[in-house]
Amino acid sequence: MIGRLNHVAIAVPDLEAAASQYRDTLGARVGPPQDEPDHGVTVVFIELPNTKIELLYPLGEASPIRGFLEKNPAGGIHHVCYEVDDIRAARDRLRAQGARILGDGEPKIGAHGKPVLFLHPKDFTGTLVELEQV
Ligand code: CO
Repeated sequence: MIGRLNHVAIAVPDLEAAASQYRDTLGARVGPPQDEPDHGVTVVFIELPNTKIELLYPLGEASPIRGFLEKNPAGGIHHVCYEVDDIRAARDRLRAQGARILGDGEPKIGAHGKPVLFLHPKDFTGTLVELEQV
């Protein structure tokens, strides 16, 4: 059911420092910061040949990654995102197998303008999983 790894998202306490590390130390193609007010994050996209890295930094007091950074002050992997062809079919199949979908279970438009859902990390080996319909 799942396809390509679309991205790995890393929450960072210092967006400029993390972006310059990927650009200057690791030699990656790093985009400009983009505010995503609907998701409470500022994102820097890093294009790798086979996938993307998303650096996430909190935007606003209610940012969903604020708590994550309190628990992980140095930053850390926040979620992985897998591509699916049909996000509602994927959701229904996962629900039928007992997996919990975060929020109201309706796909939201994600940072790439495509429908996304998040799966409960306790149901997936402690990893927050995003599904994106491509
Ligand atoms: Co993501």
